Amino acid sequence: MDGALQGVAISELATATKALSHRYRNEVRDGRLHISDEKLALAYIATRMPATYAAIHASLAALAERQPDFAPRTALDVGAGPGTVMWAASEVWPDLQSATLLEASPAIRAVGEKLAAASSLAHIDWRNADVTRDAERLAPCDLVTLAYVLDELSPEQRGNLVDRLWSLTSGVLVIVEPGTPAGWRRILDARGRLIAVGAHMLAPCPHQLACPIVEPDWCHFSARVARSRVHRLAKEAEVPWEDEKYIYLAASRTPASPPHARVLAPPEDATGRVRLKLCRQDGAAESRLVTRREGDAFKQARRVDWGDVFDP
Ligand SMILES: C[S@@+](CC[C@H](N)C(=O)[O-])C[C@H]1O[C@@H](n2cnc3c(N)ncnc32)[C@H](O)[C@@H]1O
Repeated sequence: MDGALQGVAISELATATKALSHRYRNEVRDGRLHISDEKLALAYIATRMPATYAAIHASLAALAERQPDFAPRTALDVGAGPGTVMWAASEVWPDLQSATLLEASPAIRAVGEKLAAASSLAHIDWRNADVTRDAERLAPCDLVTLAYVLDELSPEQRGNLVDRLWSLTSGVLVIVEPGTPAGWRRILDARGRLIAVGAHMLAPCPHQLACPIVEPDWCHFSARVARSRVHRLAKEAEVPWEDEKYIYLAASRTPASPPHARVLAPPEDATGRVRLKLCRQDGAAESRLVTRREGDAFKQARRVDWGDVFDP
């Protein structure tokens, strides 16, 4: 990424970053793609790709933890942008052989293709496609992904796309969204549709039952991202890191025995006790106080973090 950004004027990057984040923050849907030219594409890789990579990597790692024998050889990524998922997936599964990347914006695809020249993947097939219109001929893949795309589509387009992607999934479908209340609701809709057609929730939910979280609360996780110098300057930020809030789902063709619970918030640690906000296998959410007297459970409670499985 640093190579692709070399020689780009920081002032131009900062202007493009502001324009891009305005469109993302306001979830603008005016029929135009957010990344419509090269400057916006470079702003994306400088300021958004590190964060979406962190969220995607964390989501894929959570899936790999739940289904350790899943070793995808083929991947399909829709709304691939600069190829963020492809990079994260080949890090999590080094045996990944081929990736088909569908993307509607020529500007971000061009940057992605440039970056992909450094990938060790045997076969990368970039395709110019608007997934709401083009009925691309696609073969089912072991891993199918849709990261940070649902928020750019209308509710009807979202439902149709999720159904279609599931029909193309031979192993696991992963959807990642921003960790906002609206992002969580989009994931809940997709979750409902997928469970209705027989998908098995691998992560983050430890059950197939109704989500126990009640608004104004919402389910989301957080990934810490180190900001490069260019990233900081483009955002006119001082702090060398940021926390990317995200929400995801991993839906599998094969069931896996669910863990006891998943941790839904940063653990609150005090001497001799830890309070965990949990989503449990029986479909309930609870705030559980784990004390030193609980031995192994306490040891595990002290180790786990927001987003981890808690399975004492
Ligand atoms: C926020 S970016 C996410 C990129 C990448 N998945 C990531 O997580 O970094 C959303 C991408 O989806 C693409 N996109 C939006 N609508 C699309 C459509 N109808 N067909 C194909 N790609 C689309 C956009 O051009 C953009 O590159």
